[in-house]
Amino acid sequence: MIKTIFVCLTIFVLVKCENDSRPKFIIDNDAGGDDAMAIFLSLLYEKHFNGPKLVALTTGNGNTQEDNVCYNNQRILKVANRQDIPIYRGSKKSLVKTPSVTDYYGKDGLGDSGETYPDLVPAKDEGAVSALIDYSKKYEGQLTVITIGSLTNVALAVTLDPGFLGRLNHLYIGAGHIHSEANPEPEFNAQVDVEAYHIIAQNATADKVTVFPFSQAREYLNFTKDWRINVLGAINTEIIKHQNKYEKVSLQKEPRWQALDPAVISLFLRPDLVQEYKYSKNDIHICGTNRGIVTNEFVEKEKANVRIAYSVKTEEYRQFLLDVFKYDANSPVSN
Ligand SMILES: *[C@@H]1O[C@H](CO)[C@@H](O)[C@H](O)[C@H]1NC(C)=O
Ligand SMILES: *[C@@H]1O[C@H](CO)[C@@H](O)[C@H](O)[C@H]1NC(C)=O
Ligand SMILES: *[C@@H]1O[C@H](CO)[C@@H](O)[C@H](O)[C@H]1NC(C)=O
Repeated sequence: MIKTIFVCLTIFVLVKCENDSRPKFIIDNDAGGDDAMAIFLSLLYEKHFNGPKLVALTTGNGNTQEDNVCYNNQRILKVANRQDIPIYRGSKKSLVKTPSVTDYYGKDGLGDSGETYPDLVPAKDEGAVSALIDYSKKYEGQLTVITIGSLTNVALAVTLDPGFLGRLNHLYIGAGHIHSEANPEPEFNAQVDVEAYHIIAQNATADKVTVFPFSQAREYLNFTKDWRINVLGAINTEIIKHQNKYEKVSLQKEPRWQALDPAVISLFLRPDLVQEYKYSKNDIHICGTNRGIVTNEFVEKEKANVRIAYSVKTEEYRQFLLDVFKYDANSPVSN
């Protein structure tokens, strides 16, 4: 009897899971301390707020070399107790010119804590680009891809499969600045693979592609280090304790805390956090001294190729982070 109930329950759970109609998403990342926060946030929101389902992680060269990025993805999933999520390994180089990696988040990309983790789950054999294409077919119309690293993997998917973008529900890109006197330099994620950015911009349409430029995070999500360390960082969970270690190196480098990656994810999870969208003819300079600088011409929607998340509700975003990160990897789901 007990056994029958158990079997029925198992079948019910399996069927229910297979028929999960929640939106799906993939995070294409170069973890990186801020990528780690984005992934933790996604998993906690999925579990405790019945949020969209993170179906895979794809990796690429960026904050640190791709070998580290893959290892970091494994470690992050272990800490989050979500090693069921597959990792697909992607680009080790940019399409044309690969800038050298920075050690912004430490040499290993996660704050050089030296901690080792047993029992990590290896990445899949399938590569990131073909996985992106396969998932876009499996979840046609339901899948959002969010890039918070270089754009190499997505540019290759667009190039190999011209139908790729059309099958997505949406593509979110965290890269570039709105060029101004305050932000005269190329932004890191855009600069890592300039040609990849250009390929995507060429194929983008404003109903499918949203860009959140780092300049806008700097302006609207310009928090003090004191808040990061003594309010958000003081939450007593395993996830936040790890997150603090991952940002240990980077937090010493800047006077403020302005994190792009968790913000990009948040604007997808909670579109109401966006104050204003603008529509733009968006591209990137490929040649000359302006190489890597993103261009925007604000136009009406019909003439635009991307939607720009231009401003964010600062205090609502701050509260959102606190609301999500009060949960830990093993917190029970409350009803
Ligand atoms: C999934 O669930 C919905 C609503 O419960 C139902 O209408 C649909 O037929 C189910 N799909 C499959 C493939 O079981
Ligand atoms: C993107 O590429 C596909 C395939 O080449 C094409 O059908 C589509 O029109 C392109 N979209 C844009 C906006 O260029
Ligand atoms: C961030 O806040 C600091 C302190 O108020 C200010 O000096 C700086 O200009 C702000 N940065 C941006 C991009 O708004």
